[in-house]
Amino acid sequence: DKARLTLDPAFAIGAVDRRLFGSFVEHMGRCVYTGIFEPGHPAADTDGLRTDVLELVRELGVTLVRYPGGNFVSNYRWEDGVGPVGDRPRRLDLAWRSLESNAFGLNEFMRWAELAGVEPMMAVNLGTRGIVEAAELVEYCNLPDGTAAADLRRKHGVARPHDIRLWCLGNEMDGPWQIGSMTALEYGRLAARAGHAMKRVDPTIQLVACGSSKADMPTFAGWEATVLEQTYDHVDYLSLHSYYDPESQDEASFRAAAVNLDGFIDDIVATADHVRAKLRRQKRINLALDEWNVWYQSRFTEPEDRPIEDTPALIEDDYTATDAMVVGNLLISMLRHADRVTVGAQAQLVNIIAPIRTTPGGPAWRQTIFHPFAHTARLAHGTVLRVAVQSPTMPTGRYGEVPVVDAVATLDERTGRLAVFAVNRGTEAVPLDLDLRAFPGLRPGQWIRLAEDDPSIGNTAAAPDRVRPRTEEMPALDGGRATVLLPPVSWHALSFT
Ligand code: AHR
Repeated sequence: DKARLTLDPAFAIGAVDRRLFGSFVEHMGRCVYTGIFEPGHPAADTDGLRTDVLELVRELGVTLVRYPGGNFVSNYRWEDGVGPVGDRPRRLDLAWRSLESNAFGLNEFMRWAELAGVEPMMAVNLGTRGIVEAAELVEYCNLPDGTAAADLRRKHGVARPHDIRLWCLGNEMDGPWQIGSMTALEYGRLAARAGHAMKRVDPTIQLVACGSSKADMPTFAGWEATVLEQTYDHVDYLSLHSYYDPESQDEASFRAAAVNLDGFIDDIVATADHVRAKLRRQKRINLALDEWNVWYQSRFTEPEDRPIEDTPALIEDDYTATDAMVVGNLLISMLRHADRVTVGAQAQLVNIIAPIRTTPGGPAWRQTIFHPFAHTARLAHGTVLRVAVQSPTMPTGRYGEVPVVDAVATLDERTGRLAVFAVNRGTEAVPLDLDLRAFPGLRPGQWIRLAEDDPSIGNTAAAPDRVRPRTEEMPALDGGRATVLLPPVSWHALSFT
């Protein structure tokens, strides 16, 4: 059975927002400590920032980084992490029951973000704290001088404001695991009031309200509607989080995880637009998919069942080639919704369910999932095109029959480059016919393919490049058509100029 894909520049979905290629640094496990920050490491700079990790972050093509949590933020005092390091308190973080030295904080993160070339997405604590602390944090970060918090920043050696544009109003506030979790109404009221105060400090910032922490929360959709009814005029985005566990479902459903993400996004868009209609507003609320990834969540030990530790190795999942295909497919789903999903943050960046891993004192290396992210971030520019794919189907336990081949395309009007991203989610090879007749004069460019004979293999510190993409010979276009063979469980980026 063949698959067939037809493209036409006339059918556009929306612009590729470069904020889609974000990631996430949380004070959790070894993401910060011995991840991005390790004083004394041979590759650390004078501030203790690991330059080997910075190089990989730049190669990954990350555009934005959410910080400092996650669950961590809901019991965090940002003031603990600024000022002379010797004066900073050592705290017990209640989210992960870990010891937090506060040796790394806001100003260290902002220096790291500058070196990494990423936009910060800053979260405020709405779990144990409220309006005043959130507004003062915006003041500390964004006002030039002449007020207590701005002058405190200057006293801390940062003369120029950080000018942080994008802010999260708390994290997963519906989750019973969250410190200070709330009902939708409680959270909606607090988020509206905090957001209002934060925008009084700096009216140019953009705010993200918490959606449900996952699609299968019993309160899903009702939560979104109530929160938006309370916050609609104050916020710019609604967040969604979506993780996929290879071990808690049948294998075919896992390989088709993007079907779930497609539906999740569509449901939230419908809910946001329902509130818009109900409130009779013009503005549309876009979505921030600010935590997503493959996560072997069934292996996770709840914080209550762990001892209190300093920098424990938490959720350092080892990824396979199958996981990389799924990550590539989730990026395809995000691009397909580029008209409404305009912020993304893969969770997380280093060590914690991450594309980049480090050994304390040792090397940094790329996991399998690094590759589809890096190539998609590099190639997806311009406009996302609506792709008509005809594909054989495969049975899945969760979603019934689903297309085996999934794809999306982007057209960069500046360079003329057309990029097609495609996956084969099935266990048989599938020929894919590309119909590009609507693009006269197009020439084949590069075909990057991630496929392994055994898709269960992954990379390790000892074999960091076992799974990596290969460049294939692109077939010539014959009258605007070409056929490529997609091996089982594979991810592809095909570019044309
Ligand atoms: O990314 C790990 C955790 O997953 C985050 O702290 C939390 O927001 C989510 O539940």
